[in-house]
Amino acid sequence: MRLIIEDNSDLVAKWAADHIITRIKEKAEKTDRPFVLGLPTGSTPLKTYQELIRRHKAGEVSFRNVITFNMDEYIGLPEDHEQSYHHFMKENFFSHIDIPQENVNIPDGMAEDVEKGCEEYERKIREAGGIDLFMGGVGEDGHIAFNEPFSSLQSRTRVKTLTEDTILVNSRFFGGDVSKVPSTAVTVGVGTIMDAKEVMILATGIKKSRAVAEGVESPMNHKWTISALQNHPHGVLVIDEPAAGDLRVSTYKYFKDIEKKNLL
Ligand code: GLP
Repeated sequence: MRLIIEDNSDLVAKWAADHIITRIKEKAEKTDRPFVLGLPTGSTPLKTYQELIRRHKAGEVSFRNVITFNMDEYIGLPEDHEQSYHHFMKENFFSHIDIPQENVNIPDGMAEDVEKGCEEYERKIREAGGIDLFMGGVGEDGHIAFNEPFSSLQSRTRVKTLTEDTILVNSRFFGGDVSKVPSTAVTVGVGTIMDAKEVMILATGIKKSRAVAEGVESPMNHKWTISALQNHPHGVLVIDEPAAGDLRVSTYKYFKDIEKKNLL
């Protein structure tokens, strides 16, 4: 695993956006096949989306040949609901770039047959040739997408019941009213994320420091699903200084040193 420790969340966003743009361009040089990008919602990736939009408007990157798959969606919120992940993605990213509408995939939390929708989502990912780069965030309890603690590390797209902790944390987007937060969601599995050719997780702020430390330093385990990144051949965790706060000094020094040498 690579662990990139940047000074602040602006630099995390810049690193992540640079990385995505580099990968899109690398693939375009080799093939006409679309670049397949996995995407998260949440407050953490917002600055990365802003940076990608800025770079797109500056003519540095096009998303015309990019297919996206979002990680998750609440069950029971219509697409135009202010807190649906469909709405979030449209407002914060898709309506500002040149991605064709038909290239955007987000799990359907309103499907009549949600289980079938989950199978189809996995099939669509396979048909697109698999995900080239999956970007994600992490919950305070170490969950990736909505793979709550004790999710199988082999899990696929499915319905998950959200924990009280996640509902409480996410209620900030619902006016602080926990009763308004859906109790279930459709989420890609840990296995779905780990099948991507590359996985890049972002974590910023002191609230994520425990999840980062458990994810990097604990043996891989299903309590902190972020720890599955340890087993990925191309896993990269990009964090800011506050999110590094619970790492051992030796871990911190090791990764700082390695990345400094990477730049040489
Ligand atoms: C939700 C999402 C996750 C996200 C997490 C952290 O639970 N399902 O994909 O990583 O929140 O969100 P934030 O970046 O707002 O801290």
